[in-house]
Order: sequence, then C-alpha cells, then structure tokens
Amino acid sequence: MAAAKAKTTPARTPLVAGNWKMYKTESDAEEYIQALLPRVAAVSGVDVAICVPFTDLRAMVDSARGSRVEVYAQNMHHEPEGAFTGEVSAPMLSELDVRGVVLGHSERRQLFGESDKALALKVPVALDAGLQPILCVGETEQERDGEDTERKLRQQIKDDLGNVPDERLADVVIAYEPIWAIGTGRVATPEQAQEAIAFIRALVGDRSAEAAQRVRILYGGSVKPENAAELLALPDVDGALVGGASLQADAFAQIVSAATP
Ligand code: 13P
Repeated sequence: MAAAKAKTTPARTPLVAGNWKMYKTESDAEEYIQALLPRVAAVSGVDVAICVPFTDLRAMVDSARGSRVEVYAQNMHHEPEGAFTGEVSAPMLSELDVRGVVLGHSERRQLFGESDKALALKVPVALDAGLQPILCVGETEQERDGEDTERKLRQQIKDDLGNVPDERLADVVIAYEPIWAIGTGRVATPEQAQEAIAFIRALVGDRSAEAAQRVRILYGGSVKPENAAELLALPDVDGALVGGASLQADAFAQIVSAATP
C-alpha cells in the first residue's frame, strides 16, 4: 500500500528557511549558529536553511559545515562577473559553498526595483550554478482586495520561470509570500495559504504534471512558533520562509520541529 502511494504521490521533503534580511553582523551570526545547531541536531526529514547577508556567508558556511543547516544568500546577479557595482554573482556564491539563494523577495521587488525580467534571467543561472533558488511570489493587499491575486501569481510564475525548462521546474523552490502578511503579524489564514499555494501548484502543472507533484512550495508571512504547525500541516504547503521569527535561534528551531514529518 505504502509503496503504491509513494509511486503516485512522491513525498516532498519540507524546507524551513529563515530569511534574516538585513540583520546580524558576523559576530551576531556566529552566536546564533552556535545556539541553533544543537537545537536542530536531532531533527530529521526536514531541510533547514538560513538565508543571511553576504557579509555573514563565509562564517556561516564554515560553522554550519557537517550539520543539517544549509546556508543561502538573499540575492544574486545573473551575470557571472562584470561592471555591476554592489552586486554578487552565482560563481562567487558557489565558491563559498553557499547552497542556495532567495530570488525576487517582495522587499527587493518593491524597494530595489527587482523586475520579473531580471528574475527570468536569475532563476536559470542559479540552477545551472548548482544553487537552490527560492523564488518568492505574492500579491499586495490591494491586489487581494481587488480579487487580483490569481492574475498576479499567474503573471509572476509565467514570467519568472519562463526560461526554466519543464524538466527543471521542480528543482526551483517557490515561496508564496502575500505582501500584506510580511512583517505585519497578520498571517494568512490556513484557507488562504492552502488556496494560493494549490493555485501555484496548478500553474506549474499547466507546464508539467510531474513537476507539479514534485515542486516544493513554501508559505511565508508572519510565521511564528505558535502558528507554524497549522500552516505546515496543509496539504500543499511544503515548508516555510520565516522572517522575524528566524532571528531567534530558539523560535526558529521550534518552527523547524513543527515541520518534522
Ligand atoms: P516575516 O516572517 O517577518 O513576516 O517575514 C516573512 C518574509 O519576508 C520571509 O522572507
């Protein structure tokens, strides 16, 4: 029975990723990782990542080596090198043993002009470099109120994944982060999260039914230890992208535990 089920619905390993945003100096980061590692050492069946500022990457990769915690960056340029002051490339991240990168976070889209056109270039470059991309999508409050959520998600998925071949679609992690839920304490209801994430999975399914089964889709937006278990139990939710609550090792470890199958 179990084997037959596994064949039709391949299990997706949950991913819990903490997005520190622009928090923590290198010494803060060192203190944090020493607190986090023992708290997640016994966890199994869940992938754990922390997405840190560029200045923390080397120290975090060194300190997390051999543990179950993977270290990700928060942005990347699509060119391997060039006259792009202030930017960092995929080969620069790969050489540090960084395992992945957040792409298209709403803060980058809204505050730094990150465009769907740029993301269409970045996502395949990350994949080709062996970096795990976490592509963020999500609607504003105005778009949700105007019943424009599905159009927005359809457009972002179509444009941002436009250069990813069907056979690699499932290698992208997608994070659904409704902008009105980010940093506001106003978490999406389980119904809203499940509905939007199932919709995103169906969009992937329009390109490849197999990819839709395999692709991991996370929820992000005011995830806390108190609400994580309910969100992570939803059938289409394969993990969480955690902002504020990931800044405390203890709170983040509790969210990781909530994702443990
Ligand atoms: P909060 O968890 O602080 O709402 O942030 C969510 C987020 O933006 C993660 O990328």
